[in-house]
Amino acid sequence: MRSVKIYSPATVANLVCGFDVLGMCLNEPNDIMEVKLLEEKKVTIKSKDGYNLPADPAQNTAGAPLLAMLEELKEPAGFEVTIEKHIKPGSGIGSSAASAAGSVVAANHLLGNIFSKEDLVRFAMFGEKVASGVKHADNITPCIYGGITLIRSIFPLDIVSIPAPRLYVTVVHPQIEVRTSDARQILRKEVLLKDAIRQWGNIAGLVAGFIKQDYELIGRSLEDVIIEPVRSILIPGFDEVKKSCKEAGALGGGISGSGPSIFMLSKDEATANEVGKIMQDIYAKIGLPHHVYVTTVNNEGVRIIKN
Ligand code: HSE
Repeated sequence: MRSVKIYSPATVANLVCGFDVLGMCLNEPNDIMEVKLLEEKKVTIKSKDGYNLPADPAQNTAGAPLLAMLEELKEPAGFEVTIEKHIKPGSGIGSSAASAAGSVVAANHLLGNIFSKEDLVRFAMFGEKVASGVKHADNITPCIYGGITLIRSIFPLDIVSIPAPRLYVTVVHPQIEVRTSDARQILRKEVLLKDAIRQWGNIAGLVAGFIKQDYELIGRSLEDVIIEPVRSILIPGFDEVKKSCKEAGALGGGISGSGPSIFMLSKDEATANEVGKIMQDIYAKIGLPHHVYVTTVNNEGVRIIKN
């Protein structure tokens, strides 16, 4: 039976101002997944972790994308997926996207890469629908393409890879669970024009800052006047983390995806490590278990580790 083993990486969606349109792939943490090619049309899911994720493929974030892929195959085929989760569900660093993107990249590899990356994003969005109730691609796309990506539109898909200078990423995951579906439900459905103007100025500034390798512009543009004021109330210590990390030299940052993780970008490794210590101190003081990652941007995305 042919099989493939992959690393599927964590991602930071939104990048503060770009709700549902910007995302970044991280070098750490990664899920490990093994996918086997079957001769009959079926998908089975096995989990090697204690997260109690649904085994029914239609309800599983790795299974639903594969069911969508099978519908477009001419020959009967199926997949057996074994998932070893290291990206905790509900952490805000793309746990569901890692399962969805990892399963379709691995399956496509076994099929001889018959589908394009854009097709894989289209399939993987079925996993996000299972996880959060709506299709969004700002975790899946950087997970599949690597680097920093802009999803200008999902219907039809219009994906742009954004070149960027070297960036260090510090992520703290306070161990409370925020479900993406809940974090989406609390958002206001309408925004004021003055806020929209500020937000699209920031999105354009952030993208321009990445392309021009202008760290000051990146820092100034990491501002969110629409989503963060609503969602940050779900995250203990948020304001203190943001303020203290910026004082320590971080370019800026904010909620990672729908939270509760918070990420900060830094220009150099020493600052990123210092930012990590500050995050640790704040959550130790609050008395909340937490995990800190200091990492860099992963320009490759899902990686095959064994054929
Ligand atoms: N853009 C999505 C949200 C990402 O913020 O709801 C979820 O990880």
